[in-house]
Amino acid sequence: MKAAILTSYGTADVLEISDVPKPQLQADEVLVQVHAAAVNPKDTFIRKGRFRRFSGNRFPMLAGFDFAGEVFEVGARVKVTKVGDAVYGMLDGWQGGTFAEYVAVKANQLSQKPESLTFEEAAAMPLVSLTALQALRDKANIKEGQEVCINGASGGVGSMAVQIAGIYKTIVTAISNKHNHDFLHQLGAAECIDYHHADITNNEPRFNIFFDVFGNQRFKAIKPILKDSGVWVSTVVQPHVFLSVAKTMFLSRKKAKLVVVKSSREDLTKVREWVQTGELKPIIHEIYPLEKIREAYAQQETKHTRGKVVIRI
Ligand SMILES: NC(=O)c1ccc[n+]([C@@H]2O[C@H](COP(=O)([O-])OP(=O)(O)OC[C@H]3O[C@@H](n4cnc5c(N)ncnc54)[C@H](OP(=O)(O)O)[C@@H]3O)[C@@H](O)[C@H]2O)c1
Repeated sequence: MKAAILTSYGTADVLEISDVPKPQLQADEVLVQVHAAAVNPKDTFIRKGRFRRFSGNRFPMLAGFDFAGEVFEVGARVKVTKVGDAVYGMLDGWQGGTFAEYVAVKANQLSQKPESLTFEEAAAMPLVSLTALQALRDKANIKEGQEVCINGASGGVGSMAVQIAGIYKTIVTAISNKHNHDFLHQLGAAECIDYHHADITNNEPRFNIFFDVFGNQRFKAIKPILKDSGVWVSTVVQPHVFLSVAKTMFLSRKKAKLVVVKSSREDLTKVREWVQTGELKPIIHEIYPLEKIREAYAQQETKHTRGKVVIRI
């Protein structure tokens, strides 16, 4: 089958399109014929070798975690889906494989594709919507009427977080470049702040939740603008985040949390329901054919993508 592979760790040049064997199916897996996938910062970090302790040193290495496609074959123990079903989901862990014609997926890492979405639109959702949902619901315990600030609001995770915070009926402040403000108001943000011209930390305590999606606002700086029992959630795996999480675990009323997204059939089903009711929609910056995988990574690496970079297989 055709697949994008990494020939080693490095710059975009290590990405190639190659012919590789179709995955072998385990009893608890589903073989999905991939129609579309999406690029995440995680793909770039892996390509650069930043997580080599987890991703290992075996090349050629398959890439990609988000997917949407059709069930081609089901493992002997799989009961939740059947051949021909349209599905979407994300792979857990550090071994990718969705930038390919077929991928083997654990049955609990996919769900039925939202019927109203194309495969490209569906592929734009899993990793980012699950990250936003798990950050706001599981880490920050989001509640109706709260004030929520989202930093990095126009990107993949941010554009999902703005919408999901709206579904929970909270008042959303979005931080982004000015040219994204109209777009973020349309997604439901009550207020938009341009990070070039305003310092968010220059505020009184006003937020119940500060979701630092972009990862450049430390807990120490945000703590004064959190209300009593407010929560700062970060997406970045960095020492200062672990330190803040540990320091605030028991003594402080204001908490620091780290979200680490986990694939979940239940959460993918929840996202599908929200799409079907029209409360949540995918945001696509651009769709690239698999052959243009290097260009797709380059767009992701600009750190100014609005929503998602999608790959058509
Ligand atoms: N821990 C986890 O499980 C997990 C899961 C998913 C993602 N992440 C991490 O979360 C981060 C964001 O992921 P993503 O998929 O949303 O990335 P993305 O789609 O590439 O997000 C890019 C966004 O960042 C914004 N941005 C750029 N400079 C900024 C600044 N100085 N201040 C505020 N915003 C700025 C851009 O907005 P403008 O164009 O408006 O500037 C752009 O829309 C990445 O570091 C990723 O690795 C972690």
